[in-house]
Amino acid sequence: MLYLIGLGLSYTTDITVRGLEAIKKCDRIYLEHYTSILMAASLEELEQFYGKPVTLADRELVESGCEEILRDADKQDVAFLVVGDPFGATTHTDLVLRAKRQGLPVEVIHNASVMNAVGSCGLQLYTFGQTVSMVFFTDDWRPDSWYNKIWENRKIGLHTLVLLDIKVKEQSIENMARGRLIYEPPRYMSISQCCEQLLEIEETRGTKAYTPDTPVVAISRLGSASQEFKSGTIEELSRYDAGEPLHSLVILGRQCHELELEYLLDFASDREAFKQAVIKDQEYFKPAPWVPPAEEDDE
Ligand SMILES: C[S@@+](CC[C@H](N)C(=O)[O-])C[C@H]1O[C@@H](n2cnc3c(N)ncnc32)[C@H](O)[C@@H]1O
Repeated sequence: MLYLIGLGLSYTTDITVRGLEAIKKCDRIYLEHYTSILMAASLEELEQFYGKPVTLADRELVESGCEEILRDADKQDVAFLVVGDPFGATTHTDLVLRAKRQGLPVEVIHNASVMNAVGSCGLQLYTFGQTVSMVFFTDDWRPDSWYNKIWENRKIGLHTLVLLDIKVKEQSIENMARGRLIYEPPRYMSISQCCEQLLEIEETRGTKAYTPDTPVVAISRLGSASQEFKSGTIEELSRYDAGEPLHSLVILGRQCHELELEYLLDFASDREAFKQAVIKDQEYFKPAPWVPPAEEDDE
């Protein structure tokens, strides 16, 4: 059996009882190690908790070398561990499809994901639109395909969850060119960098999917002991130090209910200024009031 097991958001003990029971049966255990990190647990702590060795699986192993992961899964039990939920913002559908095509049995054991735990900032999951990913800009690569998605969400009043880039096993261009397997230290995008990139692209595009005054909420280290929320405008949060990773950002949509607002005000440095920013922003993309069609002329 190939088990895909969600580890939850932070602690070794966030795994479900069913997930832990499956691990206890497994002959080999892989931890997917490039889309997210378990904030409050090291590899050694996980191994100690499970009483078994755990192999780190980088992108290359999962995407190109997945035969190694699937090896003997018809005779043995193999666990593929994913931080959060195996299908939460990281689709491991490719691995599942390959397993199925080889006739291997697959079982998925779910857990909490950033995709649902984000609701703890007070915004209703019902009123979120498309999730977008913000990648690190480089000198000659500044992708902005997320911009249209934010625009579409905001046009129909929905909030946008922005997931921030992480680079855990990256080679410098020079090391890559020389074929040297030397990796850079891990990098995690900060809230301020994400806001700066948002502002840069709005300035280039100029179509006002959002403005520097658009309200946002920063979500840091969700599910850990140091979890933190901060509400403010994009401009304000481009100067905010959110501390250690992981971070996500939510750009508010027009459909901000008064209870949602009440919740967010507790995370603002200036409650009144934030409230005014939300009221002003709600005018954005407001559909024109519905006007009944002109009555048909009887004559
Ligand atoms: C590609 S997603 C993977 C999500 C994971 N599979 C899950 O279900 O939660 C990783 C990104 O989600 C966000 N994220 C994940 N966990 C988070 C947390 N605990 N707090 C804040 N943001 C988080 C970060 O932006 C991070 O770079």
